Amino acid sequence: MTFQPRSQSEAEFSAEVSYQGVASAVVVFHPAATRGELPRSVPSVDGFGAAPLGAGSGVAAALSHQLAAQRRLCDALEAIADGLPDDLDAQQTLHVARSIGPGIRRAHRFEEDTVFPVLKTSRDASPELSGTLQRLHFEHWEDESFGDELADKLIDYVRTRAAAKHCKASQAGFPRRMGSFGIVAAEPAGSSANPAAEALGYMLRGFFEGLRRHIAFEEEHLVPLLAKIG
Ligand SMILES: [Fe+2]
Repeated sequence: MTFQPRSQSEAEFSAEVSYQGVASAVVVFHPAATRGELPRSVPSVDGFGAAPLGAGSGVAAALSHQLAAQRRLCDALEAIADGLPDDLDAQQTLHVARSIGPGIRRAHRFEEDTVFPVLKTSRDASPELSGTLQRLHFEHWEDESFGDELADKLIDYVRTRAAAKHCKASQAGFPRRMGSFGIVAAEPAGSSANPAAEALGYMLRGFFEGLRRHIAFEEEHLVPLLAKIG
């Protein structure tokens, strides 16, 4: 059985943001053709990996809550990828990068410690369910490993970019002295050829596209099954 990533509706691209000190604003993401006309913003990942809804709300609702938080992470990572190489908010990017590992792991622990056992013991479980849950478990492991690597690369990119800007500013202030020592700043992040940005963008898209496929599967198959179980 194969599953294709589900395209998102415009409503799903609405997200609360906390950006440059303006909290609780609402940004609606537009198609790529018009996105360049709008100020870039990174959706907030606040609440990502937070404890699921309390007892009484149901496991299905709690899983939906966790999946929505993971979808917000994907939106934030896509906004970062779209901003490469130079249109990035350094602090917001670092915040997103540092939230990836802890948030992903909390979400996965909830699924594997709560959701999967409920499904396994259900009378509505199909014969294929065990194999499906095993596959999802391996995808969790891959996403955690990939997420850690991505977070490191994001942090390295922001720090290298900041150092390059600092060096460039220093050169501008002391051109002769800097020139006499032969110091050359790193290639500006906005240059047309930026292999580091291209590699990071490729990595970002690989991560959030894979995670979106995983989320879509769980939304379309696990949530309805949990709701049926009750
Ligand atoms: Fe999952």
